[in-house]
Amino acid sequence: MGVSILKDGSRCIIRRASQRDAAEIVRYSNAVGGESDFLSYGLNQFGHNVDEEKQIIREYDQAMNRIFIVAEIDGSICGMLTFWGNSRKRLEHWGEMGISVSKRCWNNGVGTVLLKYFIDWAKDGGIIKKVNLMVREDNHAAVALYKKAGFEIEGRIKRAMKVDGIYYDFLYMGKLIDY
Ligand SMILES: CC(C)(COP(=O)(O)OP(=O)(O)OC[C@H]1O[C@@H](n2cnc3c(N)ncnc32)[C@H](O)[C@@H]1OP(=O)(O)O)[C@@H](O)C(=O)NCCC(=O)NCCS
Repeated sequence: MGVSILKDGSRCIIRRASQRDAAEIVRYSNAVGGESDFLSYGLNQFGHNVDEEKQIIREYDQAMNRIFIVAEIDGSICGMLTFWGNSRKRLEHWGEMGISVSKRCWNNGVGTVLLKYFIDWAKDGGIIKKVNLMVREDNHAAVALYKKAGFEIEGRIKRAMKVDGIYYDFLYMGKLIDY
C-alpha cells in the first residue's frame, strides 16, 4: 500500500484490489466508461458482474507477473490500473497495462501515482522487463502521462477503435523495466 498527496492536497491511497472491491469496481468501471471515448467500453458497457469481477481479481492475484491496483480518495475508488503478464515462459517478462481515473479527479496526479506504484512493483518483482500498452492517438492526456513515465511510441495500430462510426488508430507504447 502507498499513500500520496495529490496536487490539490488530497490524500490518495494506492493498493492492490481485493475481492471486497469487486462491487465498487463494477460500479466505477460502468461509470468511467461514459466519461470519455478513450476506453474500449462506454457507459454501463463494462460487461462484468460482481461475481465475474471477483474471479478476475482472483486471477490477477494468482500470478507474480500480474497486478490489479486501485486508487482511493476518502474511501472510494477514483482510479485503477491493471497489468496482465503473459503466462508462457518465453513471454512472461512482458504484458499489457490499462489505466483509468474518474473524470472528477483528472489532472490531479492520480494517474501519475498509480503508474509510479506499478513501475516500482515491476522493478521490485524482477520478472517484468517490458510493459506495453495501447492508447488512442488523440488521447493527449494519456500519451503525456505515459511519456512522462518513460514510455516510448513503438508503433501504430490502424482502425483499432470505432466510436459512432469513426475509426481511430491506437499508438502502441512500451517501457523497458530496468533498475
Ligand atoms: C489518462 C488518464 C488516466 C490520466 O489520469 P490523470 O489522473 O488525469 O493523470 P495525471 O493528472 O497524473 O497526469 C495527466 C497529465 O496529462 C497532462 N495533460 C492533460 N491534458 C492534456 C492534453 N490535452 N495534452 C497534453 N497533456 C495533457 C496533465 O497536465 C498531466 O501532466 P502533468 O502532471 O505533467 O501536469 C485519465 O485522463 C483517464 O482516465 N482518462 C480516461 C480513460 C483513459 O483515457 N484511459 C487511458 C486509456 S489508454
